[in-house]
Amino acid sequence: MFCCCLDFLLLFCCFYSNPRPKNFPPGPAALALFGNVLQLSMKNPLEDLDRLARRYGDVFSLYIGRKPAVVLYGLRAVKEALVVRGVDFAGRPQGLMLNHVTENKGLIMANYGSVWKEHRRFALMSLKNFGLGRQFMEERILQETKHIYPQPVIHSAASNIISSILFGTRYEYDDEVLAFIINSFKENARKANSAWAVIYDSFPFLRHLPLPFRKVFENYEALKSHTRRIIADHKKSRTSGEPRDIIDCYLDEMEKVTLMFLLDLHFAGTDTTSNTVLTALLYLAVYRDIQALCQQEIDAVLQDKEQVSFEDRQQMPFVQATIHELQRLANIAPLGVFHSTTRNTQLMGYDVPEGTLVITNLTSVLFERSQWAQPNHFNPSHFLNQRGEFMKPEAFLAFSAGPRVCLGEALARMELFLILVTLLRRFHLAWPEACGGPDLRPVFGGDTGSQIRLNSTGIMITVLLYFPSLTMLMLFLCDYCTYEHYI
Ligand code: HEM
Repeated sequence: MFCCCLDFLLLFCCFYSNPRPKNFPPGPAALALFGNVLQLSMKNPLEDLDRLARRYGDVFSLYIGRKPAVVLYGLRAVKEALVVRGVDFAGRPQGLMLNHVTENKGLIMANYGSVWKEHRRFALMSLKNFGLGRQFMEERILQETKHIYPQPVIHSAASNIISSILFGTRYEYDDEVLAFIINSFKENARKANSAWAVIYDSFPFLRHLPLPFRKVFENYEALKSHTRRIIADHKKSRTSGEPRDIIDCYLDEMEKVTLMFLLDLHFAGTDTTSNTVLTALLYLAVYRDIQALCQQEIDAVLQDKEQVSFEDRQQMPFVQATIHELQRLANIAPLGVFHSTTRNTQLMGYDVPEGTLVITNLTSVLFERSQWAQPNHFNPSHFLNQRGEFMKPEAFLAFSAGPRVCLGEALARMELFLILVTLLRRFHLAWPEACGGPDLRPVFGGDTGSQIRLNSTGIMITVLLYFPSLTMLMLFLCDYCTYEHYI
């Protein structure tokens, strides 16, 4: 009898479907315990989300376990939430794996409120003080481009740039500490986008079991200890009122450094830019005609100038358009960072209660048919007007929009321009025919791991690129560039 009751209870928990609140966005029936998790591919939910949007419209709902979530599809819905009703949708969901890893501190997952505002204001101010829009930041980025070859590890360059701004430190590319930082961030990004994160978020009773998501916490602990040591060194060596980097600034202003704040910026500034650059290299190697047009423009503008500067972008509309188009295709944050509603609100006629998880499907905007002439093609003209001038369409939401828009946008734009122009000026990138056709299909949440290797002659670079493609990409350096020549 007891067993029967238990079976019945289990069946009820698994199969009873929760009714949605009144006037909540529509969506597929959800199981009481699992919600809609079993209806989504853990490997790549994007196609499932497309299918659901076709059936239920641009605003629909899902249950992640027992948690209701609203999914926004296309520019109109995303813009209404993030811009028109910006504050209502500026929260971050709580109780997810990422909140627990970051102990609800830091910036990226901080809920909307005075603490987040203060941190964001401070981070923007210090990035500005440390050179955004000034020569100082350019120098740090250009300095790093010198190290990209012959040990061309794009992740190392991106990590070193943000690390030099935060901590005043850069590492040699073969330094074990750098490898540890990058591998930990990469592994965490991968796990946070995997089925294990969904399992963690959906089933609280499994959280303490020794399952693979525990590795994310271990990595964070190790990164925290590393950052703590840097802060301790700064405390010993700093002169009050003479900041050398963001830690000093923070110590000056608040006398108390929030560890998670630094880790957030470090993480957000490493994987994002490097994956975009890697994607750019892949596309440019494949589309050599576009690469050649960029190089012509770069050569015409820079002529004998020793180094490119960010200001030069004004005279390079085609290069700017190409970089933006590459960013659109790279689509490195396909579902943005999850938001939540800060109060009871409405969206496109539906009621959305306070605290609802909101998924901004940025992919649906970056590839929206009505917004782009050829959404699935590499076409820099998407960012050029009829006079050939650079323009940014409203649907370019790679950095999202509204109060939570990417805080590092200005830094990232500067990095992408300076790094890619420096590389294109020095190297021709080519896809070796012997490798067969390239595979440009994106891999959701992909293994963002990447390696770039030089062969023994120093002329060929091999990029093992898992994001956006699983294909092994080989880049040949041709013509005016060889490894020896460069160094
Ligand atoms: C190509 C490079 C980058 C892309 C495409 C990108 C994209 C994004 C996106 C889509 C978000 C989520 C916005 C939202 O919640 O709606 C975000 C947030 C954020 N990004 Fe970036 N990002 C990039 C580089 C950077 C860099 C270099 C930094 C370092 C300074 C950075 C720092 C942040 C921070 C701190 C947030 C959280 C902001 C908040 O919650 O208030 N990002 N980024």
